[in-house]
Amino acid sequence: MTAPGSSTPFPARIGLGTWEMGVSAAQRSREIAALTHALDIGYRLLDTAEMYADGGAERIIGGALQAFGAARRAQLYIVSKVLPGNASRRGSVRACEASIDRMGCDYLDLYLLHWPGRHAFTETLRGFEQLLRRGLIRRFGVSNLDIDELQDWLRAQNSLGLAATTHCNQLYYCTEVRGIEFQLLPYQRAHAIATMAYSPLGRGALVRHPLLVQLGRERGVSAAQIALAWCLREPDVVAIPKSVVPARIEENLAAAQLRLDPAELARIDQAFPPPRAKRPLEMV
Ligand SMILES: NC(=O)c1ccc[n+]([C@@H]2O[C@H](COP(=O)([O-])OP(=O)(O)OC[C@H]3O[C@@H](n4cnc5c(N)ncnc54)[C@H](OP(=O)(O)O)[C@@H]3O)[C@@H](O)[C@H]2O)c1
Repeated sequence: MTAPGSSTPFPARIGLGTWEMGVSAAQRSREIAALTHALDIGYRLLDTAEMYADGGAERIIGGALQAFGAARRAQLYIVSKVLPGNASRRGSVRACEASIDRMGCDYLDLYLLHWPGRHAFTETLRGFEQLLRRGLIRRFGVSNLDIDELQDWLRAQNSLGLAATTHCNQLYYCTEVRGIEFQLLPYQRAHAIATMAYSPLGRGALVRHPLLVQLGRERGVSAAQIALAWCLREPDVVAIPKSVVPARIEENLAAAQLRLDPAELARIDQAFPPPRAKRPLEMV
């Protein structure tokens, strides 16, 4: 486990997403088994949200944690998110308590605002501050904030003079969705805000992309592994693919060991062109 304040923002480059888990009671034992398998083979970073299946995904994590053992809780890094509609000062605290309760995990390693909504950022941040003070969360961050929103968020954070700072912005990032490379990624780097890539497989579509399939064939790996290795080419980006299929869960974790070479990256750039800056980055 990475110590707070260390230069590595997360304890692992690949985590496990849980969106769409916990939807169907009939899938419950299969999903708990998949998550248990993930923990057994070494996943340590889990991503969830109160939104997913209305708390159902967090309950699946809770089921897997029981098998993993409460005594080993500290080995894990659990991320959850508050819905914007709940992100008032008191609402954030209540939502976080409920998430912890559903998972039976005592505290969250990272708590994120899922996306911006009607509550003022200062109110959400006051809730996060209270959660930090009570030891219910270790760090806080945001998700889906664009650069203007992130600047507003940081202004709100600074206006409150919080001791802790924003740890991460969780964003849609994969070969076909590269917009964040334009301004947001450099801005986050300049402000020591880590990037967690969600939907790194393009919600599953990229595993069938002809170029990624071809590159995978040449390397003897899968298209999914190419897509994940592409996200991880940036040393400060982590990715959280979701799967409930044990073989895929294994395959995705193994992608953390794969390094794409410059020729492979150039072929991917050709098929998925990077965004081009319209104005100098120094102006951000
Ligand atoms: N902050 C946000 O707003 C936000 C938004 C979206 C997602 N997220 C988080 O990010 C996580 C990942 O994103 P995502 O679930 O949208 O999409 P994703 O991880 O890009 O793709 C998941 C899909 O790909 C399939 N899959 C996974 N590994 C595979 C493999 N090796 N080969 C073939 N198919 C594979 C999965 O099916 P099987 O399960 O059947 O394998 C599932 O249908 C979410 O679960 C969630 O935790 C956050």
